[in-house]
Amino acid sequence: MSINRRLLIAATALVVAGAAPGAPAAAQETVKVGLILPLTGPQAASGRQMLAGARLFMAHNGDTVAGKKVELVVRDDTGVADQTRRLAQELIVNDKVAVIGGFGLTPLALAVGPIITQARVPAVIMVAGTGMIVGTSPYFVRVSFTLPQQTIPIAQWASANGMKTAVSLVSDYGPGLDAQNAFKTRFEQLGGRVVEQLRAPLAAPEFAPFLQRAKDLKPDALMLFVPAPQAGQLMRQVLDRGLIQDGVRIIGPGDALDDEALNAMGDGVLGVTTSYAYSAAHDSALNRRFVADFRKANNDLRPNLIGVGGYDGMKAIYMAVEKNKGNTEGPKLIESFKGLSWESPRGPISIDPQTRDIVQNIYIRRVERKDGELYHIEFAVFENQKNPQ
Ligand code: PHB
Repeated sequence: MSINRRLLIAATALVVAGAAPGAPAAAQETVKVGLILPLTGPQAASGRQMLAGARLFMAHNGDTVAGKKVELVVRDDTGVADQTRRLAQELIVNDKVAVIGGFGLTPLALAVGPIITQARVPAVIMVAGTGMIVGTSPYFVRVSFTLPQQTIPIAQWASANGMKTAVSLVSDYGPGLDAQNAFKTRFEQLGGRVVEQLRAPLAAPEFAPFLQRAKDLKPDALMLFVPAPQAGQLMRQVLDRGLIQDGVRIIGPGDALDDEALNAMGDGVLGVTTSYAYSAAHDSALNRRFVADFRKANNDLRPNLIGVGGYDGMKAIYMAVEKNKGNTEGPKLIESFKGLSWESPRGPISIDPQTRDIVQNIYIRRVERKDGELYHIEFAVFENQKNPQ
């Protein structure tokens, strides 16, 4: 047996032992929340957003819930799944966290599934968006989004607005394939045709050859998905290649026009229309407060849906602990997440009691200039969208 395999078995045994009924985690007067975030590496922007969101929630709501003190234990997985897995084990076994959260990419969330199942510790997904993740462990709950949920509305909008042919270009991994499949299915049901489905590698992508291919195909629309931290790089190349000037409509879920990067894209993206659960310009009192305080606390950084995920992830944890009267035993705590509903900076959201996945409004938005900045201005809404099964 290899050393790695032996270590894994030993660690798993520890995890299981630590989760026995009456284990210290449930009795502690502190509720420890382990956040596993990519704080360095190519996904660092997502880690920074989540952490800022989580901290802002605590600044707004205090650091006690159900009479217990809440303590964040923050770890950097650098965006590497082996690190996510190792950190999850450490947080559960050594730090005795009641719940873990974060996960900046789909493979990072998937890596902790077997651990949380065995240890019976809930994990709150604040970014990862591949549809199937939550179904891989009864201890997952998601407050972020799924790609099919966020993509189908733009397929409907594109079809209703006269687009008949499309090319899709996505990152070649779970959420990209989900976006591509969901888009093609709905767009073609409605009479459109996806003429080509292009996939760029997730790591260090070079988009130019794919964009040139899309340009040569002259579709009505180009549907894009990349994880939010790659948005600036992708859109710079889209603008450099002149696709928009050529009359190709850029559409997709909002990740490729991420709010954090939007201003730097410049006026070339004015009018680009996408579907997404959140805009920094979402018109509500809670969101105005959220955006203002987030910017104040983070050197004027604009929050995106990932920052909102950090904020709502903590909200969900507070609500579940409260509902459970401070008892943080995993099997009881995961039950308490089911059916929660609350107002998020994005609008009303809830946790589906059957699937533990998020139910939320998906807005159609167009880039406009407002108060001297570029914003996604919401103008239509698909209400209470589940992850389509
Ligand atoms: C994911 O890896 O699931 C993911 C990451 C960033 C996004 C969307 C999906 O913006």
